[in-house]
Parts: sequence; structure tokens; C-alpha cells
Amino acid sequence: MPRETLTITDNRTGRTYDLPIDHGTIRATDLDQIRLADGDAGITSYDPGFKNTAACDSRITFLDGDRGILLYRGYPIEQLAEHSTYLETAYLLLDAQLPTTEQLDAWTYNITHHTILHENIKKFMEGFRHDAHPMGMLLSTVGALSSFYPRARDIFDSASRRRQIARLIAKMPTLAAFSYRHSVGLPYAYPDNRLSYTGNFLNMMFRMTELEYKPNPVLERALEVLFILHADHEQNCSTSAMRGVGSSLVDPYAAVAAAVAALYGPLHGGANEQVLHMLQEIGDVRRVPDFIKRVKGGEIRLMGFGHRIYKSYDPRAKIIKRMADQVFAVTGRNPLLDIALELERIALEDDYFVGRKLYPNVDFYSGLIYQAMGFPLRMFPVLFAIPRTVGWLAQWEEMLLDPERKIARPRQIYHGSPRRDYVPLLERS
Ligand SMILES: CC(C)(COP(=O)(O)OP(=O)(O)OC[C@H]1O[C@@H](n2cnc3c(N)ncnc32)[C@H](O)[C@@H]1OP(=O)(O)O)[C@@H](O)C(=O)NCCC(=O)NCCS
Repeated sequence: MPRETLTITDNRTGRTYDLPIDHGTIRATDLDQIRLADGDAGITSYDPGFKNTAACDSRITFLDGDRGILLYRGYPIEQLAEHSTYLETAYLLLDAQLPTTEQLDAWTYNITHHTILHENIKKFMEGFRHDAHPMGMLLSTVGALSSFYPRARDIFDSASRRRQIARLIAKMPTLAAFSYRHSVGLPYAYPDNRLSYTGNFLNMMFRMTELEYKPNPVLERALEVLFILHADHEQNCSTSAMRGVGSSLVDPYAAVAAAVAALYGPLHGGANEQVLHMLQEIGDVRRVPDFIKRVKGGEIRLMGFGHRIYKSYDPRAKIIKRMADQVFAVTGRNPLLDIALELERIALEDDYFVGRKLYPNVDFYSGLIYQAMGFPLRMFPVLFAIPRTVGWLAQWEEMLLDPERKIARPRQIYHGSPRRDYVPLLERS
């Protein structure tokens, strides 16, 4: 079969270059052969924010932003949300296949028996201020785990790698719940091995004096679905951080800390917290049109709207919106829901949003559900970090085993000062 190529003609020299196209992609390093002058370095591509640059070849998650399709290892997110559990989906993301009953049992046992933290982590947590943000605590404590597991540096030993992966997936909910309980002055609640992954997380978050915590099955399932929806999302900001930092061959705890830090920002994992602030600020359905006017004037952004990849309705947002009713049937309706529905209704009819293809993303409704379930706003990015940990780890392992792996090291265009000589302090005007 003839290979597809892209032909570039240099107008100055008349020379042509045929660059092979593979999967709709040219290799940026193929541009290197095009030189502006003899002796010059070849030309490079400039792409701030990586809007049109593929940084890896991946087999984990497929995302078609125009058609609103999201697949984990080929399975549609809608089917996983309906039939799977978080731990089964985590297995799938890591191993590329759905597990058999025995495999799932062994995997669940493994995760359940790694949830306890070293007691010194608790002492470490005591050092944080009483009002520390749980996401700040999570990112530092997960990084600190690196010092507890020195074998984690053996990243090319597959058994050690798999042990750290299980530890991270198992311990993130414990770290997250402990961070929360520290920030509100509650005693830490230890894991309960009888419960599911999400049921146990609810237990560690909300158990008070009862001897046995029984999660509400509707809320436990809702959290399971939310965790499935957040498990991976190909090369987003935090996953790129995980791959980028991991490419220096650091241990996975340090790389996950970097990914958590990336997720902390308001344009990424902090967005659902911002959605709630926005809805609270609007406060009344009647104020929605004024708010939309301010958004269109460029004064503020409509949080929970728009996405770098999705240029249609985010499939995850659709599932969450449907699930909201089941949760509210248990918790009572979140009064902010009406404001969100009105914002969505107006925005989806307005040329500003339609023209820019801005639709609700995963964060638009998830915060309303989390709030109704009793999670404080400051826990929202943490609730994103827990399930995304498996996505980060699957991508990290794929990156490590990629024969084309290279340390992440982008190029730059230099527009700074040309060479100049140092001027001693007293001679400067
Ligand atoms: C997610 C996001 C960062 C993607 O950004 P991006 O791909 O870089 O898109 P841009 O910032 O270039 O936006 C493109 C245009 O849409 C507008 N736009 C994008 N998101 C918008 C929003 N939420 N509200 C209002 N306008 C928005 C921009 O102002 C820009 O308009 P312009 O062309 O007139 O300048 C962006 O949509 C955003 O900030 N959304 C709100 C935060 C959020 O919900 N994040 C969670 C993502 S899951």
C-alpha cells in the first residue's frame, strides 16, 4: 500500500520534503530536515498548550470530542457506568482486558488489603494547619509515601511496579479521607475490609460513633459511577504531568504527587468546586441572564462549560445528569440544581456558546451530587484525584514500557535578550 505523505515545498529553495503520515499524524522530528539556512537547526513546530501535538502513542482511552465518544480499552463509558464497578474498570484500564471472576476477586482482595497507612503518615498529617486544604494535604502525603517504599524506585521490575500500583489505588481513599478528617478536626476512621472500594471511602469519610458503618447503597453506587467516569481521560493536564514527570524515571509516588498538583488547578480538577461557587454566587434563577451577560462580555467564565477536546456534550456529563435524580431521591434535591439547569438551558440556545461549541463538561453536575452527598466543596478536587489515580498509573506504565520513551523535554522559541556582558552592580545606571 502506498504510504500517505505530506509534501512540504520550501518556497525559497524550491526543495520539497515528503513527510510520512501515520494515523493522521506527522512526526515533528521529520521537520528537522527542513533548514532555513545551511548550518541552521531544522525547523520546529510551535504549539503552546499542546493543542495539536500528540505526545505519545496510547492504547488506553479513546476520545472523540466532536461525536462525544469516550472508550476505555474499547469499551463505551456508558456501558461501564451501567454494568461495571470502579475496581473492575481499574483492572481493565491497567490490563487492557475485563477480568475473570478469579482475577477480579484476587485484584479486589489485593486492593482491600493495602488500604491501611503507615502510622507515621498520621503524624505527618498532624503537622498541617487545622484549616489545610485537603488537596494540598493529599499531594504532599502521597509524595511522602515515596520515602516509605524505597523499592518503588525499581520501576522496571514489573512485580514491584504492580505492588506500588495496588498500594496507590488502595491508599488514595485513605489519604483523602484522613486529609478531610484532619481539616475538620475529626478522629481518623480506619478502613473496613468488609466494604466495597467506594463504601469504604464513605465509611472513612463519614463514620462517627457507630460500630459498623453501613453506606447507603444508592450513594455507594453513585460514587462508584462517578469514579468510573473519572478513571481516565487520555492526555489531559494531570496525565501529561504524570507522564512528563515519570519520564525522568522517578518513582510513581513522586509522579502521582505531580499529577495531583496539576489536578489542583481551577481549570482542571478544581473546576467542579468553582461550579458550586458560581452557582452559589448566582443564588437565584432570576439572576442567570445577567450572569450569562457577564460571561459573554468576557468578564468571567461559565465554569463547568467548555472542553479542550469535547466540542459536543461531554458523555460523562450526560450520565451524571441522569444519575442526579437517583441521588437527590435519597439526599433531597440540591436547591442549586435549578440554577444549573437554567444556565444550561440558556447557554445551549445562545450563539456565544453554540458558536464556540461550549457544552456542559463532567464538572457541571458532579459537584451538585457531591454536595448533596455531604462532601464539602474543598473535597471536590480530591474526589477527582482518587479515581484518576488508576488512569495516571496505567498511562505511566504504558509510558515506561514504550520503546519510543524519551524524557519529556520540549523545545522553545527564544525571544529574550541576545548575548550581553555582565555589568558590576555599582556600574549599573
Ligand atoms: C476547559 C477549558 C480550559 C478549555 O480551554 P481551551 O480549549 O483552551 O479553550 P479556549 O480557552 O481557547 O476557549 C475558546 C473560546 O471559548 C471561550 N470559552 C471557553 N470556555 C469558556 C467558558 N467556560 N465560559 C465562557 N467562555 C469560554 C473562550 O473565551 C474563547 O473565546 P474567544 O475565541 O472569543 O477568545 C475552558 O473551556 C474553560 O476554562 N472552561 C471552564 C473551566 C472548566 O470547566 N474546566 C473543566 C474541564 S473538564
